[in-house]
Amino acid sequence: MRVLGIETSCDETGVAIFDDQEGLLIDLLFSQIEIHKAYGGVVPELASRDHIRKALPMIKQALEESKTTIHDIDAIAYTAGPGLVGALLVGASIAKSLAYAWHIPAIGIHHMEGHLLAPMLSPDRPEYPFVALLVSGGHTQMLSCEGLGQYELLGESLDDAAGEAFDKVAKMLGLGYPGGPEVAELAKSGIAGIYQFPRPMTDRPGLDFSFSGLKTFTMNTLADIDAPTEQEKANIALAFQTAVADTIRIKCKRALDKTVHSSLVIAGGVSANLALRAALEKLSADQGCRLYYPEFKLCTDNGAMIAYAGLQRLKLGHDEDLSISVMPRWPITQLSG
Ligand code: KG4
Ligand code: ZN
Repeated sequence: MRVLGIETSCDETGVAIFDDQEGLLIDLLFSQIEIHKAYGGVVPELASRDHIRKALPMIKQALEESKTTIHDIDAIAYTAGPGLVGALLVGASIAKSLAYAWHIPAIGIHHMEGHLLAPMLSPDRPEYPFVALLVSGGHTQMLSCEGLGQYELLGESLDDAAGEAFDKVAKMLGLGYPGGPEVAELAKSGIAGIYQFPRPMTDRPGLDFSFSGLKTFTMNTLADIDAPTEQEKANIALAFQTAVADTIRIKCKRALDKTVHSSLVIAGGVSANLALRAALEKLSADQGCRLYYPEFKLCTDNGAMIAYAGLQRLKLGHDEDLSISVMPRWPITQLSG
């Protein structure tokens, strides 16, 4: 079985083909970073317009380069939400139209389920049940996962998502967008121990997160310094990143203790962060657990995770009518297996 996956939920057009025997045949990505950079964040209307320009030529390219004919494709998976409504509608419209023309099903995929399943594209894949930490630009969620579509929410961010906090701190430090990789790069030259940043919501029980106070703390620390040097900025970037990683580590420990699962999965853009990975590797070793994360290019948005999730959903049997609808807001706990 072969599934074409289309991701258009935000600022990346992703097109991929996944085969259940041969694995990932092709994974094309077009990032709109250059388009949105000047605005310091994603401009929804510009995102939709660019997805429209890119999606079909990328689908043609994916078919040609993977030597796949339309007759080899068993279903088309597309991101149905959550995300920017206009951007989602581009992918949904193209997917449903092609599926109608090719007489195959179209399968609407939950973007965060795509992220969640991305580690399963690696040869060493996690097995259910596991604790999953989804850390992206829009979401920070801790889940107990018993099977496909069987996700219990253990905790989530009450305000900013982890990636959003990275992006905002990057802005304060005068760095570019998206901010996560830039903060991580700057933090490399930071000196540890100069600042002690808070670990929000770790002083009370529970698995929810709050990154907004940490963001304000970072802003105030920066404001207290007259004309901060590059070194001072790097020290602050490191203190911020360490605080995020440490906060997440503390919450993951709680989730592992609570569920007694022996696998921890991290996914979403922030799971590319090496400091976070290192903190969770150490936690996993201490807990006698295994840590799984996607390969680097599959941490951030991509078509491969949508194609893969589509294949899993196709195997369960899936039928959608031809009306095109998307869900800009869509709790992952509403999914079923
Ligand atoms: O999963 P993703 O591509 O998009 C959403 O679904 O939101 O995540 C993007 C987020 C951005 O906030 C970006 O700054 C962050 O992931 N990010 C990182 C790193 N790479 C991407 N944050 C910290 N460290 C990184 N290396
Ligand atoms: Zn994403």
